[in-house]
Amino acid sequence: MKYLVTGGAGFIGANFVHYVIKQRSDAHVTVLDKLTYAGNEKSLAGLPEDRFTFVEGDICDEKLVGDLIKDVDIVVNFAADTHNDNSLIDPWPFIENNILGTYHLLQAVRKHDKRLHHISTDEVFGDLELDDPNRFTETTSYNPSSPYSASKASSDHLVRAWIRSFGIKATISNCANNYGPYQHVEKFIPRQITNILSDVKPKLYGAGQNIRDWIHVDDHNAAVLTIIEKGNLGETYIIGADNDHINNKTVIEMICELMDKPRDWYEHVNDRPGHDMRYAMDSSKLRRELGWMPQYTDQAGMRDGLKETIDWYRENEAWWKPEKAETEAKYQKTGQ
Ligand code: NAD
Ligand code: TYD
Repeated sequence: MKYLVTGGAGFIGANFVHYVIKQRSDAHVTVLDKLTYAGNEKSLAGLPEDRFTFVEGDICDEKLVGDLIKDVDIVVNFAADTHNDNSLIDPWPFIENNILGTYHLLQAVRKHDKRLHHISTDEVFGDLELDDPNRFTETTSYNPSSPYSASKASSDHLVRAWIRSFGIKATISNCANNYGPYQHVEKFIPRQITNILSDVKPKLYGAGQNIRDWIHVDDHNAAVLTIIEKGNLGETYIIGADNDHINNKTVIEMICELMDKPRDWYEHVNDRPGHDMRYAMDSSKLRRELGWMPQYTDQAGMRDGLKETIDWYRENEAWWKPEKAETEAKYQKTGQ
């Protein structure tokens, strides 16, 4: 099986490449990545040369995408601009990479009659109130809040329209917030871990009551591979690990405790404008129809996943250190 993994030098894409090379001995992977500030070629170090090729380039480059797509069996699209806080400062890269980028991939997939799996997020559904017992399902209406989530919603709509109008062979997955190795230090969990490793207090937005349905990146990628191999064409699958009761304050306290700091060794900073309150995912379709199950579930699973992630950042300072000061300088400007 020959894969074209777009955005494969980013957090989830790089983990996917390592995962698929390890799990499937017949897999060959080509990564196409523009290497924005979020892409890091070092995340792909150590892959076997005969089964892996890296191409620096843009999914909006029609000629390059066409040339690469011809030689593969499937495109897995992780490429996107992904940080909400950045989308509030400058939305344009989100429109360009997420909406126009997906359009160009869809046209190439259509022209060359290739299979596509499009990676998306729970944020397209908007948010739930803290006391709302519902979870997002495959039929929940889209109601995005930020420029980031609106751009992801737009790209999902394009994929659905290309399935319906042109019959392309595609699937979509919407996943909850991921954590694990190789995640950029701007994101919540790695920011706090690397703050503590730098002897700086973690930063909690507002009161920290917001809930994310945290999932370990390996559970996400196991689900993606399951959908690629067993999913029904044209379908959407929700991916989640039943962690929709752990709020940000609890996550920060767990990180402090696991890193031998007092549980309250953190500070409150400015909240994010329009901050989504709660995400919760109902992944029963994926579990029932395709037999996928997450490994890191509930508070105990999350603790294990966090422990491993903390160890990874401790051991890989050379990977994250170069980005840290610039990222924190950006947060200082918004009081976050
Ligand atoms: P990331 O920001 O870590 O990486 C994105 C990668 O895409 C980077 O390597 C970047 O260089 C590349 N890229 C951006 N624009 C490109 C373009 N035009 N052409 C080629 N490459 C380009 O993101 P991530 O956290 O790994 O997220 C990957 C995907 O998963 C995204 O589509 C995101 O919306 C989705 N997702 C993320 C999460 C999460 O918690 N991180 C949860 C659910 C879904
Ligand atoms: P983030 O990792 O940016 O992901 P998303 O915006 O996709 O959910 O943030 C996760 C949660 O953590 C979100 O509720 C915002 C909050 N947060 C903090 O409290 N402090 C921080 O330093 C960051 C970056 C995020």
